Amino acid sequence: MEKLSAALLGATGMAGQQFIRFLDGHPYFELKVLTASCKNVGKTYREAAKWFVEGEMPAHIAEMTVLETSVDAVRQAAPDVKVVFVALPSGKAKECELECAQAGWHVFSDAGCFRLEPDIPVIIPEVNGDHLQLLHAQRRNRNWTGSIVKNPNCTITGAAMALKPLAPFGLKQVHLASMQAVSGAGYDGVYSMQILDNVIPYIAEEEEKVQQEALKLLGELNEDASAVRWHPMWLSASCHRVPTLYGHLEALFIEFEREVDLDEVKAALKNFRGTPQELKLPTAPYQPLLLTEDPFRPQTRLDRDAGEPDRARGMAAVVGRVRYDEAFREDGRTVLKNRIRLINLSHNTVRGASGNAVLTAELALRQGYVG
Ligand SMILES: NC(=O)c1ccc[n+]([C@@H]2O[C@H](COP(=O)([O-])OP(=O)(O)OC[C@H]3O[C@@H](n4cnc5c(N)ncnc54)[C@H](OP(=O)(O)O)[C@@H]3O)[C@@H](O)[C@H]2O)c1
Repeated sequence: MEKLSAALLGATGMAGQQFIRFLDGHPYFELKVLTASCKNVGKTYREAAKWFVEGEMPAHIAEMTVLETSVDAVRQAAPDVKVVFVALPSGKAKECELECAQAGWHVFSDAGCFRLEPDIPVIIPEVNGDHLQLLHAQRRNRNWTGSIVKNPNCTITGAAMALKPLAPFGLKQVHLASMQAVSGAGYDGVYSMQILDNVIPYIAEEEEKVQQEALKLLGELNEDASAVRWHPMWLSASCHRVPTLYGHLEALFIEFEREVDLDEVKAALKNFRGTPQELKLPTAPYQPLLLTEDPFRPQTRLDRDAGEPDRARGMAAVVGRVRYDEAFREDGRTVLKNRIRLINLSHNTVRGASGNAVLTAELALRQGYVG
């Protein structure tokens, strides 16, 4: 397969560096352009980026010159660009992504803008890869040949992966409490004086994103694939910043429409697979969800890099402590068989950001949406 030329906008930040990890040597995409903010334009990538991804900065990437973040700069540097990966702050992404799609380019973006627009797919390939069909409506509605595909918010990504295989049991109500790593706020996001020895009980706009995007992710396409009918469950989130570097850990309290068998629930989680696994996409983990029976797992430090093969490290979510809910009264304990509780962990800059976007681009390419 001939590789498609790609640009990476916002290449120097937390998410941008993870994109480089996944795109360097990629079998489908060749990274030809890197951009950042004006303070870094004209520098080599080595000079511009404070590298914090495991392993060395790839040598040829290190020598690339960082360009201005604009369609003109990208076009001038690489007139054959077809695919654009975006790791920009939402405000800047909003203006750039529209221009990129109008230029006929295919945008795969970590940024939060546009996620709730009806004709813009928000994709976790194993959960709702079929929502890529929205791209036909998007191209009709917006009269462009390019496309915009979004990643969901990093906090809902792991939870949606755990909830998807449970949807056939009838999801009625979900309560989610998150313990989110500092890297989720970006390189300059949280000061050490704020977070060391501390937990911050509020992350601006996070709960709204989680609550809305979950319903779109787990919803179904309407008849003419022009929009998604949101899932009808109630989902309520409380989001918290904790002093870990990477990995968002979540406690989920799930109520079903009816009683469920705990073994069947566990089997559904364990056997969960999607189209990326069927197609053996380059960034697909063999198993997107790993179930642990160890009551002390998943742990952020030990489990955030889960996923095999090596290329897919951090692409698997880990679920543990799957148990029935229970209630106590003076006269004893009642097991609530229509409710379960579990703990879920996923890597926020990998599955919650750049790894997921690259996997989505692979799926879109293989299914003929990109070219
Ligand atoms: N971190 C996560 O876990 C995570 C997860 C999911 C989604 N996201 C999303 O991914 C995006 C990037 O997040 P991040 O954590 O990587 O942030 P970050 O570490 O602050 O990096 C931001 C990147 O955008 C560039 N940039 C900033 N302002 C710009 C401007 N006005 N014009 C051009 N480039 C500009 C920066 O370049 P300079 O280095 O030159 O400033 C840098 O490359 C955000 O939309 C975020 O919400 C992040």
